[in-house]
Formats: sequence, C-alpha cells, structure tokens
Amino acid sequence: MSSGLPRHGGNLTQEALRLGLKPSQLLDASASLVPFRPPRVLRRALNHAIAGSALRNYPDREQQELRQVIATWHGLEATAVLPGNGAAELFTWAARDAVACGVSGLPEPGFADYRRALACWDGAVHSLPLSLSWPRTWPQPWPLPAAPDQPFQVLWITNPHNPTGQLWSRASLEPLLQHYSLVICDEAFLPLVPSGEAQSLLPLVETHPNLVVIRSLTKLLAIAGLRLGYAVASPERLKRWQQWRDPWPVNGLALAAGRSVMADQFGMNRWLLRVQDWVAQEGSWFHRQLTHLPALSPMPSSANYLLVRGNGSLLELRERAALRGVLLRDCRSFTGLGECWLRIGLQDRRGNRRILKALREELR
Ligand SMILES: Cc1ncc(COP(=O)(O)O)c(C=O)c1O
Repeated sequence: MSSGLPRHGGNLTQEALRLGLKPSQLLDASASLVPFRPPRVLRRALNHAIAGSALRNYPDREQQELRQVIATWHGLEATAVLPGNGAAELFTWAARDAVACGVSGLPEPGFADYRRALACWDGAVHSLPLSLSWPRTWPQPWPLPAAPDQPFQVLWITNPHNPTGQLWSRASLEPLLQHYSLVICDEAFLPLVPSGEAQSLLPLVETHPNLVVIRSLTKLLAIAGLRLGYAVASPERLKRWQQWRDPWPVNGLALAAGRSVMADQFGMNRWLLRVQDWVAQEGSWFHRQLTHLPALSPMPSSANYLLVRGNGSLLELRERAALRGVLLRDCRSFTGLGECWLRIGLQDRRGNRRILKALREELR
C-alpha cells in the first residue's frame, strides 16, 4: 500500500482545512454512514447520561449491561459479546490472535484497518486478489477457493465487502471454517443491507471457537464520533482480549447510547427497516442516475456505498468535486484499485442530488 494516501474516508476536518472550507460546507460521501440523525432514544439517553454522572464517573470496565442487551438482541450469552471503542479497536485484538495462528489471508481490495491491526503485532499477510467485476445478484458465493495447501492459516472476511459492496452467502462461508485456524468476519455493514442478516455468521459462533464476528454500530446509528462496536466470539477468547486492552476502552456516553438502543428491540427493528429501505430505494435510484453520466461506470453494490470506475484517472474529478464541497473516497490506498476508481457513500435524496450535480457539471 502506498504511504501518504488516505486509508480511510471521513477525514472531514483535514479536508476542510486543505480546501479552505468549513466542515459544515462539505458533504462527506467518502465515509459511509446512514444520513439520518441518530435514533431519538439514543439522543435522549446521551442527554440523560450527561445530566447524570456519566461524565464524572469511570465507565463500567466490564460493560456488563451493554453486553447483556447486545446478547439478548442476538440471542447469545453475555460472555460471548465484547463491546469495543468501534469495530476498529477490536480488530487490534483479533489481529493479535491471528498472528498467534500464523499468516493472515486478506481479500483485496479490502478494508485497510486489518493491515494496520496486523502490523501492530508484526503479522504476516498473504494478499488474495478479488476479481474487479461481479454480478448484481445478492448474496453471492465466496469467490476464493479454500485449497488445503494454502500459505495462510487465518482468513479475514468482510461481509458485505468493503469497498465493493458484495454480499457473501452464509452457505458459501460456512465450509471455510473447516479450513482455517481462525476466521475473522467483519459484519460492520451487514445490518444496513436489505435481507443481509440472513447471511450473518453469528449463529455459527457458539459451535465454532475458531470464528470471530465483529460488528460496528457507528455506521448503522450515525455515531462515528462516539465510537461503538462489538465482537462475538468464544468467552475464553474475549476474556483474553479484555486482559490486553486499556482499562476503560468504551466511554460512559457510548455505553449509555448503546444500552438505550439495543434494549429497545421494537425501536431497533423499526430503525433497521428504515435504514434498509433507504439502502434499497436510494441505492438503486442513485446507481441508475450514475449510469447516465459520461465516462463513469457504477458497480453493483448491496450496501450503502458503491464503487465507480472511470475510463481514465478520476483524481481530478474528485478534486473538483471536493472544491464544490463534495468529498468522494480516493481509492488509491486500496490494493488492486487505483486512480480510476472512486467510492461513494450513499446519502439522502438531497445529498445524492448534490453529488450528481457536482459530477455532472464537472464531466460536461
Ligand atoms: C468494513 C469496515 N469495518 C469496520 C470499520 C470500522 O468501524 P468503526 O467505526 O466501528 O470502528 C469500517 C470503517 O469504515 C469499515 O469500513
């Protein structure tokens, strides 16, 4: 991976400084968060926590209540759940286990944070190139063979995949568990995908101690600044991670926010419907609109982001869109992609129109 290139989207403050604009003038489609305000129950819980003692007191080191409500939501034991400071923190501990098992196989282009986490422990990586064309049907079978003589012992899966938006079928992932010492499945975006939950590996964790599933709440609830995610894995593994990490990795406000949302099962189900409906409706509308733009080919995606491929370099287009206040994800830091690719995070209709207008005017 080239150094100096943005490894993540969502660099709003830095981009605003670079462009001489205020963050509020920018539409950030380089990150992929739901475009709604966080659920009301969460905002209320935050106000309540601030008015109470959540700022003054140390947060619960065991995250007991939050573990319990997440476990109840998924029908698991609380000991099989570990909340984290976003999914990103949990990759660090998953990577430590991965390195103890051997070499990590990383499908690429893929999410850069796995390499960051593995580098913390001097982990070795075996890159697994993914094809850059794929059908529009979901879910799709896992595309890489699981031969017995492969030079890696750990497989990292992202479902749906980032940056491509491909949704992998559970039926094709399940047999992989027999082939690797450890399988780490990042389901950060799965709850946003219409009918995505049916492909989750969560139901397999109890019977497969070599499986770790990691979820993020930052995208789903639009709380990237608050930070919250969780891992589901064997209790022994999670106990080990708990001993390695900082004493208070999940702050009191994140605990209160997570507890409020995950305990409100009716509200959460309504939220999921709203989000998945947005991805289905807006995703297909936006994709259709992009096909009308010259020199850009939008790729199919099951998720709330999609890749576009250009006939040539899209870097200048990206920069000119940025000067109009529209941030798109530079894909040069994704192994296997380059200047001809951009990733766009889905917005509400108004935001999507703004993106289309900026692209249309710059492509004229
Ligand atoms: C595939 C994937 N997993 C995990 C994360 C990180 O999630 P969190 O914000 O909860 O750390 C991201 C962030 O972009 C992501 O794209």
